Amino acid sequence: MSGERVLIVDDELSLREFLSILLERDGYVVRAAPSGERALDAFDGFAPDLVISDLNMPGIDGIELLRQVKARAMKAGRDVPFILVTAYGSVANAVAATKEGAFDYVAKPFNNDELRLIVRRALAMRQLEADNARLRAELGERFQLGQFVGTSPKMQAVYALVRRVMGTRINCLVCGESGTGKELLARAIHYGSERAQGPFIAVNCGAIPENLIESELFGYVKGAFTGANHNKVGMFKAAAGGTLFLDEIGEMPASAQVKVLRAIQERKVLPVGGNVEEAVDVRIVAATNRDLQVEVAQGRFREDLYYRLNVVQIDMPPLRERPEDIPALAQHFTKKFAEELGKPIRAASPECLRLLQNYPYPGNVRELQNVIERAVAFELGTVLTPSSLPERLHGSFPPMSEERGELDLPPGGVDLEARIATIERRYLEKALEVTAGNRTQAAKLLGITFRSLRYRLVKFGMDAGDLSEG
Ligand SMILES: Nc1ncnc2c1ncn2[C@@H]1O[C@H](COP(=O)(O)OP(=O)(O)OP(=O)(O)O)[C@@H](O)[C@H]1O
Ligand SMILES: [Mg+2]
Repeated sequence: MSGERVLIVDDELSLREFLSILLERDGYVVRAAPSGERALDAFDGFAPDLVISDLNMPGIDGIELLRQVKARAMKAGRDVPFILVTAYGSVANAVAATKEGAFDYVAKPFNNDELRLIVRRALAMRQLEADNARLRAELGERFQLGQFVGTSPKMQAVYALVRRVMGTRINCLVCGESGTGKELLARAIHYGSERAQGPFIAVNCGAIPENLIESELFGYVKGAFTGANHNKVGMFKAAAGGTLFLDEIGEMPASAQVKVLRAIQERKVLPVGGNVEEAVDVRIVAATNRDLQVEVAQGRFREDLYYRLNVVQIDMPPLRERPEDIPALAQHFTKKFAEELGKPIRAASPECLRLLQNYPYPGNVRELQNVIERAVAFELGTVLTPSSLPERLHGSFPPMSEERGELDLPPGGVDLEARIATIERRYLEKALEVTAGNRTQAAKLLGITFRSLRYRLVKFGMDAGDLSEG
């Protein structure tokens, strides 16, 4: 990218000239000032996107300039990253300056490529922050709790609980099967709280490799390991003043669990390789589709962390337990996708609605959403008809249809474990139903041993306490 405006401040002419040439060659628009005072004079008129300043200058020095630039930028409602150039001996001062909001520093004599890289990163980061601020403003409107569709008693209970925690900074644990709306809820909690203007940072704990999770969460300091060429801000710090959404918390490795516990208890984080703890103010909303109590009982999840996260637990009910919400959801998604695809479809036909309501949705609301998106795309008329629904929704939902039916694999992916678990649970329920609760016979019907059946019932919390054979 080019055309961005860089203000260079240095009392040494040769350095001003050198930096100007280096950065102009990269396509930036450069202005140079010989002192902090002159830089401030030029600041409003030039409106730089980035300032690079020497640390030691007569008069207003680099740190004082940093403070004044930050104050002016804040008044103007924008962010101007600041890079300090420092003599070899004063690196400690420059490190202190990063705490005052300097983006980074470079020690003289510096490597040209390193400086160019830092400039690029500073400007990219600024762009990212501007985008985030704009997105936050947009999302703030979209993620009101009122935007949640569904008025079933089970959802009413969820809304009631959410309203109670919304005004607090209590940590919440959102539990539920895949696609039930856990992330949507986490956002609603954030955007409904007084932290709404702060960041909402989502971390998928299951998607980060174990050896990286610590530096992702807590950041690292320059030189912490090979390749750590600069300070990295972790997710905890990025979420300061806002909400940190720890998704798939059940997947978090034990080593990281200890550190997260500490961060929550002390409200401080220690970057990898760092020796100074930094205070952070974040609200944590965690989500899981596992039964964390079972994970705790089996020693895979720390009990102390569980209690820290689970100050309030919100259970998202599966869609099949609230089929009365299906018509409203179907209507909502029909309208949404019809608008997106520019199609004149207003509703689903009664017959289509009946099929939609008869299906158990192992993938919950996300699956319903996918079904409707596809139906809207396929539909040629002005109402959704059964012929636009995927095969698996036709007729009742016989065992095996999941295997034969067409599988939905949305671009965003599916949660295979959760889907398989749903199918597994439904078979268990069905087998117990047809054998009137006789576990030996149920196990036979499913082609598994009694022990295996019992294990699965415990796993799903379906054992009624009586685990004897028969
Ligand atoms: N009650 C609802 N009203 C409207 N849209 C909903 C509702 N519940 C879920 N959705 C939509 O369904 C999709 C899935 O929701 P979300 O991503 O929050 O589920 P999740 O529980 O986090 O799933 P996973 O465990 O697979 O990550 C999203 O597009 C979300 O906007
Ligand atoms: Mg999710």
